[in-house]
Amino acid sequence: MKIGVTKEIKNNESRVGLTPAGVFELIKNNHTVYIQKTAGEGSGFFDSDYEEAGATLIEKAAEVFALSDMIVKVKEPIAEEYPYIRENQIVFTYFHFASSDELTQAMIESKSVCIAYETVEDEDGTLPLLTPMSEVAGRMAIQQGAKYLEKPIKGRGILLGGVPGVPPGKVLILGAGVVGIQAAKMAAGLGAHVTILDINMKRLRYVNDVMPPHVITELSTEYNIRRHIKNHDLIVGGVLIPGAKAPKLITRDMLKDMHPGTVMVDVAVDQGGCFETTRATTHEDPTYIIDDVVHYCVANMPGAVPYTSTLALTNVTLPYVLKIANLGWEEACNRNKDLKKGLNIVKGEIVYADIMK
Ligand SMILES: NC(=O)c1ccc[n+]([C@@H]2O[C@H](COP(=O)([O-])OP(=O)(O)OC[C@H]3O[C@@H](n4cnc5c(N)ncnc54)[C@H](O)[C@@H]3O)[C@@H](O)[C@H]2O)c1
Repeated sequence: MKIGVTKEIKNNESRVGLTPAGVFELIKNNHTVYIQKTAGEGSGFFDSDYEEAGATLIEKAAEVFALSDMIVKVKEPIAEEYPYIRENQIVFTYFHFASSDELTQAMIESKSVCIAYETVEDEDGTLPLLTPMSEVAGRMAIQQGAKYLEKPIKGRGILLGGVPGVPPGKVLILGAGVVGIQAAKMAAGLGAHVTILDINMKRLRYVNDVMPPHVITELSTEYNIRRHIKNHDLIVGGVLIPGAKAPKLITRDMLKDMHPGTVMVDVAVDQGGCFETTRATTHEDPTYIIDDVVHYCVANMPGAVPYTSTLALTNVTLPYVLKIANLGWEEACNRNKDLKKGLNIVKGEIVYADIMK
């Protein structure tokens, strides 16, 4: 199969759909790979790395689209790219169709085969192509939170790990899923005192089993949240109710109960946020302050660490890219129920009902 990778042109997107290691595997399997020049630079992969791995470098995105049976991307195609996508072409990327009617319509009209990373689903209901980005965001939440606790950037002026003779900072984490556990791990590693809340006792049992004793688990109730926000320095929101908006667990009136300079990182911002005062921010201007509480609500946190994020993403996408390339999309989906769940729009037909929600 002919596989093409273009440079992502969405604002602030530096990740890339295939690494040189992925190219190497595809070439080994007798496929042809076209890489648009400088596509990997933002993630630290250079044209010479791709060439060495066996790829053919191409100047223009339009040409890559024209030559390829399958396009492997990171972000959804944007308007400029719509005209390049043609009938029967496979496009394997994050689409998030539910959030854009314009994109949905364009892909229906293209009659292409759209396989969305975000709906590929394991038998146990987990989303293997979303997990690595939650892992990155969960770990980053503590890194960012620790930074914004510094006084010159309006935080409380607390060092999360403390020092001998001074107690560590306190971190409250809402949600013990992928984001929550990775955040807890980082915070615990820094020596912070960590409290993690969830409504799912199975998750809390797991956290309790695997985390060190200074990570305390508790049931997520409004009572417990109101109690804890008064004496925690960094609050991380990592809750998810699949298919629904995040519940507003911290309301505006609760901010007055927090210490001035408390930092709140709402990782769940992409689902509307789990703090009432959340509004999406960008890496250029990541924080704002309400009632002396610092809010960090960047909707694409992994975008700030493209090297790590590209590797984390392609680690999980490459096995599927190989399956599609080796078998063709129909046979690959017939043999793999998880990949089949990724089919969203096939030759003009919506085949994944939730797109219309
Ligand atoms: N901002 C970003 O850049 C970024 C990156 C990756 C993921 N995310 C988002 O982070 C959120 C969390 O993702 P995840 O992969 O950890 O999800 P997950 O499904 O693994 O975990 C969510 C957890 O929230 C818990 N939960 C639900 N309601 C709760 C409540 N009322 N109180 C406490 N816990 C509750 C669930 O029981 C579950 O354990 C999602 O909205 C995801 O889209 C954002």
